Amino acid sequence: MKKVDVVLGLQWGDEGKGKVVDVLTPAYRVIARFQGGPNAGHSLHFEGKKYVLHTIPSGIFRDGSVNVIGNGVVIDPVILSEEIAGLEADGVDVQGKLLISKKAHLILPTHRAIDAASEAAKGKTKIGSTLKGIGPTYMDKTGRNGLRIGDIVSPEFGERYGRLKEKHLGLLRQYDYPVDLTDYEKKWFEGIENLKRFRLIDSEHAVNRLLDEDNTMLAEGAQGSMLDIDFGTYPFVTSSNTLCAGVCTGLGVAPSRIGNVYGIFKAYCTRVGSGPFPTELFDETGERLCDIGHEFGAVTGRRRRCGWLDMVALKYSIMVNGVTQLIMMKSDVMNDFDTIRVATAYEIGGRTTSEFPYEITGDLRPVYTEFEGWKCDLRRYGSYEEFPEAFKRYVEFIERQTGVPVKIISVGPDRGETIVR
Ligand code: GDP
Ligand code: IMO
Ligand code: MG
Repeated sequence: MKKVDVVLGLQWGDEGKGKVVDVLTPAYRVIARFQGGPNAGHSLHFEGKKYVLHTIPSGIFRDGSVNVIGNGVVIDPVILSEEIAGLEADGVDVQGKLLISKKAHLILPTHRAIDAASEAAKGKTKIGSTLKGIGPTYMDKTGRNGLRIGDIVSPEFGERYGRLKEKHLGLLRQYDYPVDLTDYEKKWFEGIENLKRFRLIDSEHAVNRLLDEDNTMLAEGAQGSMLDIDFGTYPFVTSSNTLCAGVCTGLGVAPSRIGNVYGIFKAYCTRVGSGPFPTELFDETGERLCDIGHEFGAVTGRRRRCGWLDMVALKYSIMVNGVTQLIMMKSDVMNDFDTIRVATAYEIGGRTTSEFPYEITGDLRPVYTEFEGWKCDLRRYGSYEEFPEAFKRYVEFIERQTGVPVKIISVGPDRGETIVR
């Protein structure tokens, strides 16, 4: 009986989960998404091409793989259909490799409108949502109003859609947010029809059966731990459990069936959207991280905020996820830096703490440890042993601080630019 290994982002998303899943997939038969939806943008680079996936697991390019969209995911049929069409145009056999949970919830056109209305009403205090309708869809899920993939074949689907839409329109009137959904709604129903040609399944049974039959399985997280609905920087978070625990509820696997937990982090930090970011840089160094790292959102194109690595937040994420191995991304972005800083504690109102606090307020000041830069192109090296001492000092400091080994180091966006220790 196999266990599910898990890949999770430990920061505020965009750590490089797509690349890592793509690198790890040769060792896995099944790749499963367990939460989030089209707010995710996972980039993969190989054979000189770049792909961005939103709802489909990053194993889809590998022959013989089984890719599951789990019950914890929320699906926009328009976005998913566009994603499928793009892959099929590139010759990927999506139909043969994709399984969709009947229990995954549907993002309605009106969910997107409510997301936009809610953000507009918040004004300066907006979350900075990707406006894909994620929050309103999970609200309807927990509010027990939602529509699920399994419902699309019901003869009452149209009627149920109409009832929920009416409810939403009432809410939009309260927001005084008029919308014309005609075009999107047409594409939405076309998307629904398109999804009927896929295998819509009871994924919890399939997932457990595949494990019982000794198939290897990797769960692919979306967003990051600091965007988790419970443990992230609330309310500036997404609406799902992005943590390891989300694998159990989002796929229907028992906690005892969780295997390795791979925690991914960038060698620095980024965040897109609003909310606290203790180590954010507003200076030229922040600009350099953004420019060299091409830090622009894969979903919205927004410029990502950049800052130094935050060990307080990282250790917190490792704790709540039970991370067993670390994977460090994008070290190459700092190849030319003279000095590199890492926050090891926060000073709050004259008190120093290394515990991530309930709330992050204006009087927080990160306490930094400084490192000498490695000043060379990390892509030159074929193994960990060959890396320059200054770089190894950085990696080994992180290992000592966290107590978790750094197993993989990524030094470029391509599949091949990866060092496994
Ligand atoms: P995800 O959402 O976690 O899958 O991450 P994104 O795809 O949104 O953002 C990560 C970005 O960094 C993508 O453009 C990747 O191609 C790129 N990337 C991943 N790993 C590396 C790396 O080691 N070095 C560099 N320079 N870029 C990387
Ligand atoms: P991947 O999987 C980075 C952020 C948004 C916003 C907040 C809430 O590519 O790492 P939502 O649309 O969920 O209501 O937005 O969460 N956010 C992400 N940031 N990467 C993501 O996904 C994100 N998904 C949501 O910017 O601040
Ligand atoms: Mg992303």
